[in-house]
Amino acid sequence: MSSESTIAAARVPRHLAVIMDGNGRWAERRRRPRIIGHRAGARAVNVCIDFCLERGIQALTLFAFSSENWGRPEEEVGGLMKLFLGALEREVDELDRRGVRIRFIGDRSRFSEAIRRQMASAEDRTRANSRLHLTIAASYGGRWDITQAARSLAEDVAAGRLAPEDVDEAAIASRTCLAELPPPDLFIRTGGETRISNFLLWQIAYTELWFTDLLWPELDVATLQRALDDYAARERRFGLTGAQLAAPTQETTE
Ligand code: FPP
Repeated sequence: MSSESTIAAARVPRHLAVIMDGNGRWAERRRRPRIIGHRAGARAVNVCIDFCLERGIQALTLFAFSSENWGRPEEEVGGLMKLFLGALEREVDELDRRGVRIRFIGDRSRFSEAIRRQMASAEDRTRANSRLHLTIAASYGGRWDITQAARSLAEDVAAGRLAPEDVDEAAIASRTCLAELPPPDLFIRTGGETRISNFLLWQIAYTELWFTDLLWPELDVATLQRALDDYAARERRFGLTGAQLAAPTQETTE
């Protein structure tokens, strides 16, 4: 690989995290029920997965259903659950064939037995795949994630398995969801809102953020490419100065 292509490769995010917003508005603009927007949103998920596979992005984390989404009207939540179950039944074979590893993060206890079984089966089935790590955040919240990590550490301290002084950033990170993946390099949110909405709060400390007004069902390759081009042009400093990054010293590389 030439040094130029090494640089280009380094500028493709390893891990992309996405808030898929705008399904409801997409449907409302067409005077259709919101669930029609979610169905169109499920098609856009395939656009995004295909894009990651083509561009060699190694991990994709999608926010499919937040801890707070349980509070939506019963009809919408029920429709979404049906949609998740249908997508799991329909898509897993093909994703497995394409080398995609599927994982779910979030509080599974709130899902029906049927959905929990499908989630576990999709995870087992695709466990050995490594071309793309697809994580679906469902019944997930960033605060829930940090809370469950803190509780797990507290249990170990209470049981004498861990000393309080060993509770450091690395220990917390190791108990959060996605612990085995690099943190997201790039975060994309569609739908025009410019907030994080309790997504990966711990993991996105140094993630590059990118927002678009486009509604999720309208997602296309050109938009994803724009996000990647923008990402490639940014300088990530991780709290250091530009000069330090240009000429790393012993101190900054340690
Ligand atoms: C946010 O849009 C979207 C959701 C709460 C659901 C996301 C679900 C999908 C994209 C469908 C299927 C997903 C998988 C992984 C199979 P919104 O309803 O908040 O939109 P709005 O802001 O316009 O109301």
